[in-house]
Amino acid sequence: MSKFIKKIKIKKPDDWHVHLRDNKILKKVIKYTGKFYKRALIMPNLNSPITNCIKSIAYRSRILKSMHLNYEFQPLMTCYLTKFTVPQELEVGFSKKIFIAAKFYPYSSTTNSKKGIKKISDIASVLECMEKIGMPLLIHGEEINKNIDIYDREAKFIETTLDPLRNKFPKLKIVLEHITTKESVEYVKKNDFNYLSATITPHHLMLNRNDMFYGGIRPYLYCLPILKKNTHQIALREAISNGDKHFFLGSDTAPHLNKNKINVLGCAGIFNAPSSLLSYVQIFEEMNALKHLESFCSENGPKFYNMPINKETVTIIKKPFKIKKKIKVGRDVIIPFLSGETLNWSIKN
Ligand code: NCD
Ligand code: ZN
Repeated sequence: MSKFIKKIKIKKPDDWHVHLRDNKILKKVIKYTGKFYKRALIMPNLNSPITNCIKSIAYRSRILKSMHLNYEFQPLMTCYLTKFTVPQELEVGFSKKIFIAAKFYPYSSTTNSKKGIKKISDIASVLECMEKIGMPLLIHGEEINKNIDIYDREAKFIETTLDPLRNKFPKLKIVLEHITTKESVEYVKKNDFNYLSATITPHHLMLNRNDMFYGGIRPYLYCLPILKKNTHQIALREAISNGDKHFFLGSDTAPHLNKNKINVLGCAGIFNAPSSLLSYVQIFEEMNALKHLESFCSENGPKFYNMPINKETVTIIKKPFKIKKKIKVGRDVIIPFLSGETLNWSIKN
């Protein structure tokens, strides 16, 4: 059926997991998210993380200032949890809509997570408060310990941290971010989607760990959680293909300067903003599931966050779309996901 579809109109999507960074990178990358999405949930892991209302207000205004664009785009902000976070900060921030959610990074789990959480008991009073006020908790779900194999960290996290957390705070709204495994798909599905949902990235849907080593090591495909085996990739693709409300769009677009990607210690993160939406369209088409594209991109996310579904629409047409090879930032560049490749779908201007 779907190979005959040439045009799709959906409500304007939102991206519920975006890294925009700051300063010169922010200025260069913002337009890609602004072009495709009405709202984006902005991750707080800057070099100096967004840990309170004052920092968040200032960061949001830097974002808005860097957007010399004609798009009507709304950045939604998040608070980075540390062991010093106090419930009052979240209560005030959430009631004034300075924060839409708070992010839990396990210590040393990913980019700029050195101020993250070592012991979940350190934030027990914060979680209790979030449960009470209905503020969503966003989780980077990996158990970090040198002895746990990198491919097992997500499944281990569910067992050791997430499941006990769900039992202790059953009404806490949680998003398990950028899930990569069949264990996560299964666990999330077992729960009420108002209390546990998950985002899925285009790269984890399109690729598996073999792609990272195809013909040589491919640092631009290095992200966290790391790409998994194809059986997990298949589980993710199936999860989105039947319109399950637990899953929604969160691209995890994560730009890094080339000098930091191609380095003895290369950074984790894939910059996919120029192609994320069109990649999702292609995946839904491959899965013969285009009828569920709109709920994944534009409905399940706002429903979880108790926000209105966008009224505007976008039209996506079957027309080749070539992705830029690189984006100049000062004297360096950022290499986008699928650099120089062509996707089957474009957005109608
Ligand atoms: C993200 C980043 O660079 O900020 N990196 C990544 O590989 N996904 C952080 C994150 O979401 O883990
Ligand atoms: Zn991320």
